[in-house]
Amino acid sequence: MKVIKNSWRYLKPFWWILLLILGLTFTQVQLDLALPDYMSHIVTYGIQYGGIEDSTLEVVRKSTLDDMMLFMSEGDKETVLASYTLYEEGTQGVVDDQLIEFKEDVYLLNEDYDEELASIEERPLVYTYSLYASGVSDIDALVSEDMITSLEEEISSSMGIDDSGLETMAIMYVGDEYEAVGMAMDTLQTNYILHTGMVMLGIAALCGLTQVVSTYMATRLAARVAANVRHDVFKKVQSLATSDMDKFSLSSLITRTTNDVTQLQQLVQMMCRIIIIAPMMGIVSITKVLRYPDLIWILGVALACIIAVMIIALIVAMPRFAKIQGLVDRLNRVMREFLDGMLVIRAFNSQKAEEKRFDEANDEYRKTDLFVSRAMSLIMPFLMFIMNMTTVLVVWFGSKQVDFNAISVGEIMAFIQYAMQVLMSFMIVAMIWVMIPRALVSVRRIFEVLDTKDAILDPDVPKEMPKRTGVLAFEDVSFAYPGADEPVLEHITFDIKPNETVAFIGSTGSGKSTIVKLILRLFDVTKGRITYNGTDIRDFRQKDIREHIGYVPQKAVLFSGTIRSNIEFGRHIDDKTLNNAIDVSQSREIVEENALGLDAEIVQGGTNVSGGQRQRLSIARALAKDSNIYIFDDSFSALDYATDKKLRKALDVMTSAKKATVIIVAQRISTIRDADKIVVLDEGKIAGIGTHSELLASCQVYKEIALSQLSAEELANA
Ligand SMILES: Nc1ncnc2c1ncn2[C@@H]1O[C@H](COP(=O)(O)OP(=O)(O)OP(=O)(O)O)[C@@H](O)[C@H]1O
Ligand SMILES: [Mg+2]
Repeated sequence: MKVIKNSWRYLKPFWWILLLILGLTFTQVQLDLALPDYMSHIVTYGIQYGGIEDSTLEVVRKSTLDDMMLFMSEGDKETVLASYTLYEEGTQGVVDDQLIEFKEDVYLLNEDYDEELASIEERPLVYTYSLYASGVSDIDALVSEDMITSLEEEISSSMGIDDSGLETMAIMYVGDEYEAVGMAMDTLQTNYILHTGMVMLGIAALCGLTQVVSTYMATRLAARVAANVRHDVFKKVQSLATSDMDKFSLSSLITRTTNDVTQLQQLVQMMCRIIIIAPMMGIVSITKVLRYPDLIWILGVALACIIAVMIIALIVAMPRFAKIQGLVDRLNRVMREFLDGMLVIRAFNSQKAEEKRFDEANDEYRKTDLFVSRAMSLIMPFLMFIMNMTTVLVVWFGSKQVDFNAISVGEIMAFIQYAMQVLMSFMIVAMIWVMIPRALVSVRRIFEVLDTKDAILDPDVPKEMPKRTGVLAFEDVSFAYPGADEPVLEHITFDIKPNETVAFIGSTGSGKSTIVKLILRLFDVTKGRITYNGTDIRDFRQKDIREHIGYVPQKAVLFSGTIRSNIEFGRHIDDKTLNNAIDVSQSREIVEENALGLDAEIVQGGTNVSGGQRQRLSIARALAKDSNIYIFDDSFSALDYATDKKLRKALDVMTSAKKATVIIVAQRISTIRDADKIVVLDEGKIAGIGTHSELLASCQVYKEIALSQLSAEELANA
């Protein structure tokens, strides 16, 4: 239910397209299902009855009509005479597109003839012609109540006819009468068939047109919905907590944005087409089939058989359907890990083990998929058999009905077509029934992501960030990663003033990067608070905070594109700033080394530049951003001492001009010894704060780090 509500959110903007598709589909079904009736007409009236559609005489000899009127009431006579115009012998008239010269007096049907005419004329026509057939020519002299009764008995006993049988006979005699008037009977027949054929052609063309238009609209709609969903999932993933990312797993997130969205797209498309057509077709066909009550039982039996086959198929294949999606996930996960770790795998020669892992996942997917396909391919012959048996039964029992004149050959053919439609629609509905849960699994997986709460929320009433650099302060901050029991940081308190350079040092895992992430508000503190200019940073918009900060992550990341696109990173940056950033970050040589300069290509993950180059380019990216706070998380580690020093010197010039704050995380004492303030971290706690010389004198942890890196002489010089 929730899935439907969620999906509706994406369909709602397109409600009018849906409505249009619905209307078109309804038209299509109506048109499509009119065709078998026309075909039945061609067979019955066109071929069997020589092109005569009902027992209304369009033209009749005066002598015949006079005889017929002997069997009519006074009222009927008036109706009949009012419907015709008399044409005398020798005149000409047009009947059914044929120009005829009349050899005796005839009546021609008026345009506005009485609707009842056919039923009024039927009996008298049959009586009159039966008498002609038995050699009576002067009916006038003979006619009496008794004679009518005996005629009626004779006719019905010899032919066993009811009303529809009577009509059949009447139509035959209409043909005889037309021939006697002098009409070309084969022209009449050809005209009828041609005319009906043209109508059918027109209907088929219109039907095709509605189908094309609605399919086109459905396809577009589905693609649009899918694109919107994909966009939202992508956007959502950006604000997901890392713990939630881990919960979904990266490969699953990828499957969800690609494979699952494709499933959703197919579902929408299917819904717009077959899911609404099949039941409509079924229902309309059933109303058509109901006209033949004597044959309906055959359809009932066929339906029961199909249901049985479907149920068996469902029980066997259904559980596997659900499994397939999970297996795709697994296959993707193995593949991804394999690709990510390719170099490590090669270095450790563990290709064999990886292959085995992949083969396992691959095999299981193949087996399940094959099983489902096999089961499905078994069903088809069964269903075909049932459908063919239905046809055989209808022909068998239908032909008996034809003997009784209860049904015409054309009607049997129409019945078969309608019955097939009913069966087909039923099967399609059943198939959809099987497919929908499978597609719904995908939809549910997508919405699982979309419905996950954002890790970090913006305040309802955000405060404005100050334009100028402010004081950044940690006030007794403790922090544990979501899901972890142990705090990573405990009771951290320090402040950083504008234009100050502050360094963090400590052994690996001491929590340096975590502090940086807290400043960026990638996580929220567990206890205490972080303030900027006296305001808790949780009162600012995340966007505003990050706008203020130029950040170089510990793991330098480059994106596919060019050097320029990596530094600009979606913002517009003027050439002066760009060049300055390149100079300060000591990236000039990288640009100059390459013939294409700034437009040199960077491949995905930035693997076509060295680690140190990657680091410098990502520093350039941070510097190109006009910020009040610059954060370098261990960003100088891959630089040699000389470059490190040059970079820091240039950086100092640049940031003091702006009065910006600089935060440097480092492992090397030489990188940070000139900082205004150094914070020493040890297992998530502050071991000391001060300048290089202060800390050397007072902080044991700092002294140990310094001793391991600098000679005693260097220390003494400091
Ligand atoms: N996303 C995370 N989820 C859970 N624990 C984490 C996460 N990231 C880091 N930690 C843990 O937090 C602690 C501090 O990690 P942090 O990355 O801040 O260390 P660091 O001082 O930057 O180390 P390094 O010098 O190696 O970069 C580590 O013990 C680490 O295991
Ligand atoms: Mg770190």
